[in-house]
Amino acid sequence: MHLLIFFICIVTISQATNDNQQVTLWNLFKSVHNKHYTNVREEQYRLRVFKRNVAMIDQHNLEADMGLHSYRLKTNQFADMTHEEFVQTMLTGLKISSSTNLLKKLSERQFHSSSNVEIPAAVDWRKKGAVTTVIENQGQCGSCWAFTATGALEGQHFLKTGHLVRLSAQNLMDCSGKFGNQGCNGGLMDASFQYIKANKGIDTEASYPYEAQDGKCRFNPKTIGATDTGFVDLPPGNETALQIGIANIGPISVAIDASQSSFQFYSSGVYDDPACSTTSIDHSFILVGYDTFKNATVKKEYYIAKNSWGDSWGDKGYIWMSRNKHNQCGIANIGSYPLV
Ligand SMILES: *[C@@H]1O[C@H](CO)[C@@H](O)[C@H](O)[C@H]1NC(C)=O
Ligand SMILES: *[C@@H]1O[C@H](CO)[C@@H](O)[C@H](O)[C@H]1NC(C)=O
Repeated sequence: MHLLIFFICIVTISQATNDNQQVTLWNLFKSVHNKHYTNVREEQYRLRVFKRNVAMIDQHNLEADMGLHSYRLKTNQFADMTHEEFVQTMLTGLKISSSTNLLKKLSERQFHSSSNVEIPAAVDWRKKGAVTTVIENQGQCGSCWAFTATGALEGQHFLKTGHLVRLSAQNLMDCSGKFGNQGCNGGLMDASFQYIKANKGIDTEASYPYEAQDGKCRFNPKTIGATDTGFVDLPPGNETALQIGIANIGPISVAIDASQSSFQFYSSGVYDDPACSTTSIDHSFILVGYDTFKNATVKKEYYIAKNSWGDSWGDKGYIWMSRNKHNQCGIANIGSYPLV
């Protein structure tokens, strides 16, 4: 009898502690990510979504501790969003359609790599100063394509001139409609390079800052930060060519399938999700290098990718994507870079 009561007490107390812990965590989450909800019902719903996500993240990390995954997840700014909401708000930015084929024909040059190119085992363009810091957070706007285009051009501009200049994604969003781009509703990197060539430049971020919403075109030729003379597409699906491109050209713009929950909450390590599609592409970013993770039991090749979801997402804004793993997430499908 006594024993039974004792047990019930323990269970109740630990349940309460657990709930308290979660509420403490929830309050912390709200203040760190500056979350506000319209009413109590909305908040109660968001708290339930948050608890489900936290449980999923905890389970993944326990499995990672046991060696079942090569990457960890974390509670980030998307932890109060269901997976469906995440896909609908964050992955609407890439407009891949029939126009993509048309753009291929506009590619000024084919990618050539001589057969005797030296390919280093590891490359990191950040160490050469060719990559701006992650401060971008595209917000709830499908503008990944614009940040991918500016990131790739920032790299090429630096390698040509020695000056690292942050370029205006908003300029592309507001002004490149004629080239098929649609601001927060999506666009393409190659169309952006086309616009910049025709426009004879793109403004600096400092002169034309990001607003996370569509606006009127306010391009100013006096505050141009860089220009390009076209672009080159890499051969689709070829990870050898992609590696050579990163090594010999600089940061490369690519597109991927980012629609797994594992991507939503990625924290660190080599991202490797067999469920990731090689054909349904919905997100873009730049690859700024590659390397291989090695320890006594594991050897995993990866690309270093810079995302545009702020530095609280992923590994300070970055993710290590699996490399030479059958084109996982379609990473080599539409690689390209601007000519300067
Ligand atoms: C090697 O790395 C993996 C993935 O991070 C980890 O799970 C494993 O425990 C590590 N093994 C050793 C021997 O350190
Ligand atoms: C991939 O690209 C490399 C380097 O350009 C080339 O040598 C190779 O033939 C290509 N592979 C395929 C299957 O096209």
